[in-house]
Amino acid sequence: MLEVSDVRKEFGGLVAVDDVSFEIDDGEIVGLIGPNGAGKTTLFNTITRVLTPEEGSSIRFNGQDLLEVKTHEVAQLGLVRTFQIVRVFNEMTVLENAIAGATFGTTESIDRETARDRAMESLEFLGLAEHAEMDAGALPLAQKKQLEMARVLAADPNLIMLDEIASGLTPNEVAELSESIERIRDERGISVFWIEHIMDAIMGTVDRLLVLQSGELIADGTPEEIRDDDAVVEAYLGSAV
Ligand SMILES: Nc1ncnc2c1ncn2[C@@H]1O[C@H](COP(=O)(O)OP(=O)(O)OP(=O)(O)O)[C@@H](O)[C@H]1O
Ligand SMILES: [Mg+2]
Repeated sequence: MLEVSDVRKEFGGLVAVDDVSFEIDDGEIVGLIGPNGAGKTTLFNTITRVLTPEEGSSIRFNGQDLLEVKTHEVAQLGLVRTFQIVRVFNEMTVLENAIAGATFGTTESIDRETARDRAMESLEFLGLAEHAEMDAGALPLAQKKQLEMARVLAADPNLIMLDEIASGLTPNEVAELSESIERIRDERGISVFWIEHIMDAIMGTVDRLLVLQSGELIADGTPEEIRDDDAVVEAYLGSAV
């Protein structure tokens, strides 16, 4: 589904993403971990075309060359993301936020009613329907995060990319969010690519983990393989697991 080959991104003299290659298959949940400043968000930004990678990089999504498409077209192809900082539109209602997702995620011009139906359905799926008419700004953080997921879901994606969506949540809230992510894959068949620092959240949910350190991909394996990988433990996990 997603094929990333030799992706490189430099900022002046700094190599933020250093010739990274990997694939994500249909229906997979793949985690991306690594220390602060490892290049995780930069990698997301190059894949979603917020940033343009260096010459020689290749990113294909469902056979389409993403380097040939514009930023706003990426979502229309079925690849939709969240940002590291919560980006809910506080002055809009919960439903209006979800409608925004439904509207941006499509090339066809959908009518209001279809957008509203898709939005409402996503809110129901994530347990937010009863708050539909509330201002999104009034939601507690955990529900804002669920709303961010409802918004990407309303865009009818094939692959969603989540940048530290669990940060700032209590362990119980993290568990609920992980469950939502699993349901999105299991019941909707949507693939997930997920950056997270909270190991408990990600280890129990993902099929596979990628580890980035100083821009380099140092490991790609199942959670069990990653836990036993000496280089990863030394670089990042330490005594965390
Ligand atoms: N727009 C930019 N201009 C210059 N340097 C940047 C820019 N964005 C990121 N960097 C640098 O690139 C490196 C990778 O940053 P990035 O934000 O991708 O890391 P990260 O793995 O997402 O970290 P965190 O876990 O803290 O979110 C860092 O050294 C950062 O300072
Ligand atoms: Mg980041």
